[in-house]
Amino acid sequence: MKEETAAATPRQGTGNRAYGMRPWLLGIVCSLSAVLLLNQHAKSYVICSKSREIYTVDPDYPRVECIQIRGPDIVATGNYSEVVWFSNYLNGMSTIIPSWALERIQHLGRKVIQLEEGSVVLPGLTDTHAHVIENGYMRQLPLMGSKSVDEVIDRIKAYIQSHPDAGKSSTRWIEGMGWDQTKWVGAKFPTAADLDKDPLLKRRFISLSRVDGHARWVSSAVLGLMPDLPEKVEGGNIVRDDAGNPTGIFVDNAMSLIPIPPWTHDQMSSFFDVTMKEALSYGLTSIHDADTKPAHVEFFREMADAGKLPNRLYLMGNVASDEYWGDKIPRLINYGKHSRLNLRGVKLFADGALGSWGAALLKPYSDNPETSGLMLSGPEHLKKLVEQFWKDGWQTNIHCIGDRANHVILNIFEDILENKGGNVSTWRPRIEHAQIFSPDDLKRIGRLGVIASVQPTHATSDMWYAQIRLGPERIKGAYAYQTLLQASPQGVLPLGSDFPIEGVNPLLGFYAAVSRLSVDGTSPHGPGGWFPEQRLTREQALKGMTLDPAYASFAENTLGSLTPGKKADFVILDKNIMTVPVDEILSAKVKATVVDGEVVYGKL
Ligand SMILES: *[C@@H]1O[C@H](CO)[C@@H](O)[C@H](O)[C@H]1NC(C)=O
Ligand SMILES: *[C@@H]1O[C@H](CO)[C@@H](O)[C@H](O)[C@H]1NC(C)=O
Ligand SMILES: [Zn+2]
Repeated sequence: MKEETAAATPRQGTGNRAYGMRPWLLGIVCSLSAVLLLNQHAKSYVICSKSREIYTVDPDYPRVECIQIRGPDIVATGNYSEVVWFSNYLNGMSTIIPSWALERIQHLGRKVIQLEEGSVVLPGLTDTHAHVIENGYMRQLPLMGSKSVDEVIDRIKAYIQSHPDAGKSSTRWIEGMGWDQTKWVGAKFPTAADLDKDPLLKRRFISLSRVDGHARWVSSAVLGLMPDLPEKVEGGNIVRDDAGNPTGIFVDNAMSLIPIPPWTHDQMSSFFDVTMKEALSYGLTSIHDADTKPAHVEFFREMADAGKLPNRLYLMGNVASDEYWGDKIPRLINYGKHSRLNLRGVKLFADGALGSWGAALLKPYSDNPETSGLMLSGPEHLKKLVEQFWKDGWQTNIHCIGDRANHVILNIFEDILENKGGNVSTWRPRIEHAQIFSPDDLKRIGRLGVIASVQPTHATSDMWYAQIRLGPERIKGAYAYQTLLQASPQGVLPLGSDFPIEGVNPLLGFYAAVSRLSVDGTSPHGPGGWFPEQRLTREQALKGMTLDPAYASFAENTLGSLTPGKKADFVILDKNIMTVPVDEILSAKVKATVVDGEVVYGKL
């Protein structure tokens, strides 16, 4: 109902309705100004959908018939007769002016694009937590979905055979990503010795990241480069055999011991291109890069200076240092030739991940009572760091998976917000992943207004083993998206993928959020979804990929909804994901991705 009344007044960023003029005079003035102004200045066009399948995520006007774009901005939304602005007046004169002339005049100075039935326009999609360069890196030798150690070895061999440069030079490192021992028979960590079995791989420098990026598996040749390993690593683990020898698996902080050569500029450039091409083809107009090292910041800055960022990047800086490093990264606000680069937040890590028993829990793991996981640094140290970042005006985004990590970080945030004068709406602290909470902390994160930045595909990837790790009680506070959203005082739950850990396609996250099913329609709780009460509605999920990430990046006034005055970032899909049956969501294809009013993928 709200929608209907709302549609009665067009929303316009510029006042282009004129009153009190005689219709014929208005017609002439308007056509002249259309020709003179619109044709010469910023390009203007209108997109219309007769069935009103333009979803704006603007709470006042959730669905409209048309949107008008001028230059990089949305200037009007509403019904055809309102947006194609003088048609009201012209229609009144249909007895005097022949209809073919009416059509011509209507469209003077602008293109009106009518969408095909079934297509849908959405605000540009955002991935609130991803790893841009690392995704391109992973694409060189993806190990996702491998079903055994042997399959990993086969994939490495195929990679060497198809990359002559990798095959010839025995000093060139071979790097891959995506293995997951929980998917293999026995579910045990692999070893360096496994890689020596094949003559083609023996003596090669091989480093393979686990699917979650929280463990690496290296070859014996790499172990040979590290003769003097420390006994213990704080916040990390060197996996050893019964005799005490390292097996080739390095978890969390121990990964930094592996002497991997830094990526060259050319490598970074090619990783960047691979990811951007993929991201635009899936409708991503913004990406929050969740762990940007200084060399990567420099690379992105160079791209921004050269006008080579095809979409928006919101960086969370990270410097590998135990000391405060807020003074070692630049602050960038709407930076670069197209103002698309931002760096005003930092990324810290509280713990590891659930798959490698690295998530820090309040009580021991249900399937491994020897351990409660790892805090990557001590609570006191984290507290000092977070306070300093807050004082210096950095948004603070912290990786927390386990209920202990979330508890410790909420203590720190609470102290700043309630005792030290922190302002949640100007600071906007975020918890990245926000995966497992005690019941009290689920309430507390809401009371404090801390933003939970979650990844729905993690829920559907982990649902097959999460309860084994956590037991039947703790699991109720895990991946509790609807509870988190209801608790949020701002009503926000920004969604991301954590690609390359999950796929880049945001529809995977949309589907996982609304169904809590794997892509083949199954779940440990059957076809109704895993803990279905935690499903999001499609409207909630869409907002989680548009307006909520805008809020989480201080951009809710310029991005995230199709509202006059905001940037013209949008995507056109060939299927209406807001209404098709759930099992058809993933077959929707992007017809066009538009950033700042310009088509960056497909066509209008
Ligand atoms: C816009 O279109 C809707 C749906 O067709 C209609 O209910 C509404 O009255 C229209 N508004 C105006 C101002 O014509
Ligand atoms: C927090 O900051 C906002 C925005 O500047 C301001 O409107 C609000 O009053 C502040 N809240 C408190 C409690 O100071
Ligand atoms: Zn991540």
